[in-house]
Amino acid sequence: MKVTTLFSCSLTTVFLSSIKADHCNVYNLNSKLQHFVLEGQPLAINCLLSKMPNLEFGEHSLTWYQAGHHTPVLEDPHSRIQQQASSIWFLPAVLEDSGSYECAIRNSTHCSKMYVKLTVFRNSNGSCFNAKFAIPQSVYTSTNSKIVCPNLNDFRNENHLLPVLWYKDCKLIKDRRFQLLDNYLMIANTTMEDQGNYTCHVPFNYMGKQYNVSRDISLQVTESPPRNPPEIFSPRNHSVEVKLGSNIIIDCNTSGAEVDHVFWTVNDSYIDHYYKHSKNVFEIYEKEIFLQGKSFLTVRLNISKVSDKEYENVFVCHALNSFGQAVAHVMLRHKVPDFRGPLIGIFVVGFLLTTATILFYTFFKVDIVLWYRSFHCPFTSKEVSDGKTYDAFVLYPTTNAVAYMYHLDNFVLNLLPEVLEQQCGYKLFIVGRDDIPGQAVVSITEDTIQQSRRLMIILEPELSSCSRLEETSEQHIAMYNALVHCGIKVILIEMEKIEDYTNMPESIKYIKQKHGAIQWKKNFAEESQLANTRFWKNVRYRMPPRRTVSLSEIHLLPQVHSNPVMTITR
Ligand SMILES: *[C@@H]1O[C@H](CO)[C@@H](O)[C@H](O)[C@H]1NC(C)=O
Ligand SMILES: *[C@@H]1O[C@H](CO)[C@@H](O)[C@H](O)[C@H]1NC(C)=O
Ligand SMILES: *[C@@H]1O[C@H](CO)[C@@H](O)[C@H](O)[C@H]1NC(C)=O
Ligand SMILES: *[C@@H]1O[C@H](CO)[C@@H](O)[C@H](O)[C@H]1NC(C)=O
Ligand SMILES: *[C@@H]1O[C@H](CO)[C@@H](O)[C@H](O)[C@H]1NC(C)=O
Ligand SMILES: *[C@@H]1O[C@H](CO)[C@@H](O)[C@H](O)[C@H]1NC(C)=O
Ligand SMILES: *[C@@H]1O[C@H](CO)[C@@H](O)[C@H](O)[C@H]1NC(C)=O
Ligand SMILES: *[C@@H]1O[C@H](CO)[C@@H](O)[C@H](O)[C@H]1NC(C)=O
Ligand SMILES: *[C@@H]1O[C@H](CO)[C@@H](O)[C@H](O)[C@H]1NC(C)=O
Repeated sequence: MKVTTLFSCSLTTVFLSSIKADHCNVYNLNSKLQHFVLEGQPLAINCLLSKMPNLEFGEHSLTWYQAGHHTPVLEDPHSRIQQQASSIWFLPAVLEDSGSYECAIRNSTHCSKMYVKLTVFRNSNGSCFNAKFAIPQSVYTSTNSKIVCPNLNDFRNENHLLPVLWYKDCKLIKDRRFQLLDNYLMIANTTMEDQGNYTCHVPFNYMGKQYNVSRDISLQVTESPPRNPPEIFSPRNHSVEVKLGSNIIIDCNTSGAEVDHVFWTVNDSYIDHYYKHSKNVFEIYEKEIFLQGKSFLTVRLNISKVSDKEYENVFVCHALNSFGQAVAHVMLRHKVPDFRGPLIGIFVVGFLLTTATILFYTFFKVDIVLWYRSFHCPFTSKEVSDGKTYDAFVLYPTTNAVAYMYHLDNFVLNLLPEVLEQQCGYKLFIVGRDDIPGQAVVSITEDTIQQSRRLMIILEPELSSCSRLEETSEQHIAMYNALVHCGIKVILIEMEKIEDYTNMPESIKYIKQKHGAIQWKKNFAEESQLANTRFWKNVRYRMPPRRTVSLSEIHLLPQVHSNPVMTITR
């Protein structure tokens, strides 16, 4: 922008302007156009047209006029009212200068102009303050606030402003709560008392003359709403598991902090500074969002590739405002492999296997033991005798009821020998078959039971209600031997399911409770005679191993082993 400065041309310019003035575009910049100055003080008013970006005049001239006058303001440094560059200066202003002024810009084709209004005032009665022309400013209590001595730019000499003097209610401020900084007045711990009338004074030297520039400021102090230090919602103080070389993003989500006062540090340095040579860690100013009248500021930490160095450092998010600060510490730690999954798996598999094994054993216990016996006892010739003659002593009720007689006798005298003796090779003593008639029953029974490895008792439900069985002397003796001497294992076989044992002898109840009973299904099918049906397997399982066994070998059999009745030490 070039300004015509040739004084010799001014006459021509005046002439031109007088003709072209009417064709000028007038710009109305209302708000900018009111100017006040205290009588006797210097004032400079800039022509804003020259600063308007939408107006490009190229080669042009700029001229100030007093409104209505065709005589331009002179660019004479000795003149009280003069034009300097694009500004009009009053050195100083006098009351009579109040009024309108205009500046006009012209190039070869266009003309534009604007008006300004100037008021020169006088303080009544030599007062140092004029409320009417004071500039309002406002601050909050409890803060460190600052007020400004405005519009001083024109009075800077080589960019240096002479010290500003501040007055409050016409008295020079000396309190150490107030500090001067350039054209600002800083007020620490502002209180309501600080409200009032301020005046700033700046000495200004021009062409060997000293002028005073002053501004009146009416300061409004407002009680600040209660405010708190900022809050950090995330992250919490914690450590984050992260794999070496992976990407991690940590958002620092805060509220109440001032803009630009949320940031990340590492090892007490700003992220940007600490990682200035690395392209792996960034701090991204993310965004400010408003929710329910609260503003949330989020600053993101983006570590695109975690290196060993990051595990040693603590990353700290800071949020500040004038009421305090909040911090959150984040540490990275190596991701440890998670053993819990596999461990649980092993437990579950182990549990299932154990359960399955137990179930399998429970269901197939009998078969397993029988199979084991058949497999494990190949040498019958080398029998180790426990000195007993019979594998089982078979005791069954004698009855007069013919219907049961057939049923029972068939089982005891036909099926039992057929399966156990013929098919399995056991040796049985069956009362009524193997006893010698005429022998004293009691002595036979007792001797023979002692010669037997098992006592097999066959029970009939109908008979159990009848007291006959109970009174059978053989039975008593057998029970006595089996239970009191504990030397023999008892096998109970029910010919039918017996629900009610109340009428049974105590000894039978005891055996039933302790070892259970095997139940004979009443149908005499063909397969009932086969040793590998379930019933006979159960019987064989309770029978001693088929050959005569030594005690040590008996201990190998789970069922026999756990049986207290077998605690014989012979
Ligand atoms: C004169 O100023 C007008 C308005 O900004 C502009 O459009 C025009 O180009 C200028 N003419 C010359 C010759 O610079
Ligand atoms: C100055 O103040 C006094 C009393 O306050 C008053 O009588 C006098 O008229 C005032 N003078 C001017 C010029 O305002
Ligand atoms: C502002 O107030 C705080 C706390 O009340 C005090 O520590 C500090 O010294 C005060 N500052 C000044 C400049 O008086
Ligand atoms: C500030 O000036 C106005 C007008 O002169 C006056 O009414 C007011 O009381 C003054 N304020 C103080 C705090 O002195
Ligand atoms: C400028 O102000 C100072 C004190 O504030 C005063 O002594 C001096 O006379 C003033 N100068 C002029 C030219 O008003
Ligand atoms: C920040 O936290 C607030 C409150 O918990 C939540 O409403 C908001 O969505 C969070 N903003 C981000 C960017 O995570
Ligand atoms: C952290 O800073 C201290 C001092 O500024 C420096 O000695 C140390 O090496 C730094 N640690 C890391 C891990 O950069
Ligand atoms: C994090 O930084 C990496 C590397 O510059 C970039 O590719 C990725 O998009 C960034 N992630 C986010 C969420 O800004
Ligand atoms: C984190 O810990 C520091 C002290 O170690 C504490 O001052 C701060 O309040 C904690 N920040 C969070 C978000 O818990």
